[in-house]
Amino acid sequence: MTSIKAAITGVGGYVPDYILNNAELSRMVDTSDEWITQRVGIKERRILKEEGKATSFLAINAIKELLKKTNTEPGEIDLLVVSTITGDMRFPTVSNLVCKELGMTTALNFDLSAACSGFVYGIETVSRMVESGAYKKAILVGADMMSSITNYNDRSTSPLFGDAAAAVMLEPTTEDVGIIDRIIGFDGKGTDFLYLKAGGSLYPPTYETIDNGDHFLFQEGKTVFKSAVSTMSDISVDIMKRNNISSDELKWLVPHQANMRIIEAVARRMGIEREQVMINIDRYGNTTAATIPMCFWDYEKQLKKGDNVIIASFGAGFTFGSIYLKWAYDPA
Ligand code: UT7
Repeated sequence: MTSIKAAITGVGGYVPDYILNNAELSRMVDTSDEWITQRVGIKERRILKEEGKATSFLAINAIKELLKKTNTEPGEIDLLVVSTITGDMRFPTVSNLVCKELGMTTALNFDLSAACSGFVYGIETVSRMVESGAYKKAILVGADMMSSITNYNDRSTSPLFGDAAAAVMLEPTTEDVGIIDRIIGFDGKGTDFLYLKAGGSLYPPTYETIDNGDHFLFQEGKTVFKSAVSTMSDISVDIMKRNNISSDELKWLVPHQANMRIIEAVARRMGIEREQVMINIDRYGNTTAATIPMCFWDYEKQLKKGDNVIIASFGAGFTFGSIYLKWAYDPA
């Protein structure tokens, strides 16, 4: 019997118009273009400034583009997963708001929270659901409005993050393309080093939590950096080895975009060239669950059917994951 795999069959994306570059950021906080460029590799990031708009707005626009490009009616979608840590509200879910706005009233929909590994955890979840045969047209969107939880008085975190959303369609296939292998994990070592303390059930909002800045994300950057380099490298090398992919046979590495130095270290350890790595951190910064699909969005025209692609992510938790897939379509 031919087995069913899940394949990415389309990509859509959206970034807000407003560009916050390093020069403007250097006027807001004690930093410089030189420091950010050398230590992180970011030149600018997008910020959603429009009143009354939030993460669902980013997701809706990315999905609208995806539906248009793939010639799909909203009613055809039977599954929508939104990977995010910056939902518009505690509830309802972003997925509920998206389905309401776009008329996807029959789709099973939910949000998935795995921070920077949100897209990889989402691929694992959605691909398994598609492989089961129960879902025929699924959308996974990584969407985060990181500016809503970033402290622009803190130079150690404010240069890093941006707002964006990007969506992929996943459909069943019996061809030799699609999601082939995955390493998905969590090590529990990171919960004290990357978190947002308040606003949940442990520390509901009070004047004190606001005064303390506890509604902004906190990161102990150095510790996260070290674990990100070793974990992302290990899982990416492992997935290459166990699928017998040589560095020449790998067409693309799609790494989570948190720090250019992390990306370079992972590529070096995999023995691949910079031309094999999708990079857009310079223009968008770290958009959390959106970084990886944003790379697909940016590089879609260069992707060809059958290309060997490895995705690698690392984030709060620590959560991590690596996916090996064969790209399923040629550029339009
Ligand atoms: O996406 C989820 C996973 N997240 C990541 O993977 C992020 C991992 N971490 C990182 O990317 C890096 O650790 C950062 C970019 C966050 C920080 O870079 P770093 O090289 O680890 O810098 P550091 O925190 O060790 O700071 C080095 C120096 C310090 O000064 P002293 O103590 O050496 O005098 C900081 O105060 O750089 C200073 N510094 C800055 N200087 C100018 C920290 N932030 C800034 C800044 N501008 N924005």
